[in-house]
Amino acid sequence: MKLQSLLLISLASVAVAAPSWWEQWTIKKHESVIVADDDMRLVQVAENEAPFYTSEKERMEMLRSNIHYMDITDNTDLGTYRAKSLGKKPLPSAAVHQNKVARYVDQLSTANMEVALTEFTKFHTRYYKSETGHQSAQWLYKQISDLIEETDAESDVSIRKFEHDNWKQFSIIARFEGKNESLTNEPVIVGAHQDSVNMWLPQLRSPGADDDGSGTVTILEVFRALVNTGFRPHRPVEFHWYSAEEAGLLGSQAVAKSYEKKGVDVIAMIQNDMTGYVGTKFAESYGIVVDYVDEDLTELVRVYAREYGDIPVRETKCGYACSDHASWAKAGYRSAFAIEGDFSDSSPYIHTANDDVSHISFDHMKQFAKLALGFAVELGYYKGDK
Ligand SMILES: *[C@@H]1O[C@H](CO)[C@@H](O)[C@H](O)[C@H]1NC(C)=O
Ligand SMILES: [Zn+2]
Repeated sequence: MKLQSLLLISLASVAVAAPSWWEQWTIKKHESVIVADDDMRLVQVAENEAPFYTSEKERMEMLRSNIHYMDITDNTDLGTYRAKSLGKKPLPSAAVHQNKVARYVDQLSTANMEVALTEFTKFHTRYYKSETGHQSAQWLYKQISDLIEETDAESDVSIRKFEHDNWKQFSIIARFEGKNESLTNEPVIVGAHQDSVNMWLPQLRSPGADDDGSGTVTILEVFRALVNTGFRPHRPVEFHWYSAEEAGLLGSQAVAKSYEKKGVDVIAMIQNDMTGYVGTKFAESYGIVVDYVDEDLTELVRVYAREYGDIPVRETKCGYACSDHASWAKAGYRSAFAIEGDFSDSSPYIHTANDDVSHISFDHMKQFAKLALGFAVELGYYKGDK
């Protein structure tokens, strides 16, 4: 499909602010320098449409126009390794266990999140191909490692780098082992993406406080609460910080494909992408995404949000391939997505130099920490005895 027609579709469904004269001038001035048209990549923008090749210039244009895409160049085989007949793993009933979750909820701290997000947004950009994007991954890796080393509590928890073939910013995986060895191959995954991007030019500043520093720090705080309290689930619970989400879900596709190839039976994955901005059109709420997600898992997410959060739940849609949960869905696993509010009321600052901590509510992020915590603990203790 021609980019022009894509643009029309996009403008019809999402209100996109037109660039100011200054931004237009900046793009015109620099575009020819940064965008080598030889980096052709195969992208997909809708489930039932054929993929097509795009230049980097066109992909930058898609980013500005809010067109979500999956860059499938290196991952056309995602979703082909796990037999469809294996189906999805059964989920627990919607019963909740406050007694199991409460002790961890008490550990969550907005002050911690503010310190971490302030540091994380100091990197000039966390663009996946940039030097500072590599440094920010190392910084994040160190925060997580330090938490593991410093605790006296008895969790069986480890961390590893998931290196990517064509760029330096690695993804990060931290894992609590489960007590029940027969469930070792059935982890629960809580994810966020660590990279950021400036939609006008990748070289420009991109603090990415909301997108997705907020999700990164939300799940870091959940991880901290669990590590410090000696979390010992029945099944493995993993925390993932993906690289290169903004470039067409490259990091999460690589990770999901490796799980699929190893025959891992992920029981559930939840993505935390943008948890820090409170919109202006609607009352503060959880945005629970209902398109391109697993319906049964999403129902459980609603239950956990109502049980462990203090704000209402709002159903919303974000379209095809709008964040990393889509990679897990494509690999044949159950995935869900919670976002800061109605998609139409999400932060207008993302993908620009203005996505900074001044627009972030740490209380709002804490609501998402409670939800992710409920998700991790409830599903981590699930024995498979539906
Ligand atoms: C371990 O998991 C298996 C499979 O779900 C289950 O049958 C068994 O009862 C569990 N063991 C314990 C001690 O919970
Ligand atoms: Zn983004």
